[in-house]
Formats: sequence, structure tokens, C-alpha cells
Amino acid sequence: MEVIICPNEARVGEIGAAKVAQLAAKVGPQVVLGVATGSSPLATYRELAALVAAGELDLSAASAFALDEYVGLPYEHPESYHATIARTVTTPLGLDPARVHVPDGDPARLDTAGERYEAEIAAAGGVDVQILGVGANGHIGFNEPTSSLASRTRIKTLAPRTITDNARFFESAAAVPRHCITQGIGTIMDARAIVLVATGDTKAEAIAAIIEGSVTSMWPGSVLQLHRHATCVIDEAAAGSLKLKGYYKQVYANLPDWQRLDV
Ligand code: GLP
Repeated sequence: MEVIICPNEARVGEIGAAKVAQLAAKVGPQVVLGVATGSSPLATYRELAALVAAGELDLSAASAFALDEYVGLPYEHPESYHATIARTVTTPLGLDPARVHVPDGDPARLDTAGERYEAEIAAAGGVDVQILGVGANGHIGFNEPTSSLASRTRIKTLAPRTITDNARFFESAAAVPRHCITQGIGTIMDARAIVLVATGDTKAEAIAAIIEGSVTSMWPGSVLQLHRHATCVIDEAAAGSLKLKGYYKQVYANLPDWQRLDV
């Protein structure tokens, strides 16, 4: 997998956005984006919004598919992923809300929600560029450790670590929903290209496991080693436990011109 180590979080946003923009431009204005929630991709979304505003990226006909949603959290709740995606992605990137999709977390419709979401992604032609974050326990989307590496969109139960980590978005850990609906690992792997962004030393163990460990459902993100077009854009802190850090920097410093990111 391609590994790009940046000096700080702001640079992760710039490089992450440049990578996504480069991949999206190859597809054209009708690109289908996969979008993650969480704090990690926020700088990338801000930079993408700046590229759109500057006329350097055309997302006028783009679609987007979110990875996941809490079960039973009203969509009006500011921490629902419907609200989060609208606030951090749809509005700043100027996407047409009708073409932005988030899994249906309504308990009344859960039995069909996974299949319906998979059908929506398929009808759009699949995801061209998936923007990913990673949990401290290595989860991608809400695919917690031991999730099937072949899984499709379905209901999951949050791991204790995820409840603790996400408590900062709620009044307390007790207020964090216990269930979610998430794209499966197999669904995520169907994206034609994947750009994972991560910052901070709380992600260093997961990043080392994902990039340099064995492929294992104990670290769900490690499956990206099997993807033919995956890039990790991380800061020095998140890269802190990588053994081959010097090698990744050497590779990036010596990229051929045609692979360079124009930033
Ligand atoms: C959340 C989301 C993931 C996200 C991860 C990391 O629970 N379901 O999609 O990548 O946890 O979040 P953060 O970027 O805030 O650390």
C-alpha cells in the first residue's frame, strides 16, 4: 500500500485532498465518493471544499455514500451521521443532497437496510474513491475487530473501545448508541481506490498493524493490504510505530513526476 507521511495534521488534509482530487478528476464530475465521519477526514474535506471553491475540482454531478450510521439516533440529532455528513461533506463540498446517501439507521426498517444500501451503491456504479478514517482499535467504518473480511452492509454492535472513544461526541458514554449499520469490509474493498487518513499518536498502534502487520480481522483495516489501490496519508505521530518509516519517506521523495501530487 502507498504510505505518505506528512509533518502535521494540516498537511495530511492537503495531501489527502490532493490525492482524492487527483483520483476524482480521472473519473470526472460524476465521480462517486465514499465518505467517512469522525474527526480524521475533516481537514481533508476542508481542503477539498477549497479546491471546489477555487474551480480546481468539479463535483457538480458527484454522488457520495457514507460508511455508517448509528441505529436509533434521530437524524436531526447533531451526532447522527446523517447530520454529520450534511454538515461536514454535503454543504462544504456543494454536493446535491439528493445524491448523498447514508445508511438507514431507523430501527423500524433495519431488516432491509443493509440490502437496500448495497443496491443503492450498485445502482450508482460503485464507489470510485473511498475516504477512510480508522478507529484506535483498527476498525474501518464500524467494522469492529473480528468482523468478517468479506462482510456486506449490516448491523453491528459497537466495541467497548469505540463507545469510549465516541463518548466525546455525546453527553456521556451511556448516551452513545450501542448499535450501528455499517458498510461491510467487503463493501469497502469494492471501492476502486481508497484513501485512508489518520493523525495523532492514539492511531499509531492501529496504523502499524494495518500497514505492517498480518492481514487479520483483529485489525480490520489490515485488509487494505489486499486492495490494489490503497493509500494511507498519516502524520508523524500516527506513523510513530512504523518500522519502515524511512523507506516510505524515501519512496515518496522519489516519486516519478507523473505520480506527484500537485500541492
Ligand atoms: C468512528 C467512525 C469511523 C471513523 C472512526 C475514527 O466511530 N465510524 O468511520 O473512521 O471512528 O474516528 P476519528 O477520526 O474521530 O478518530
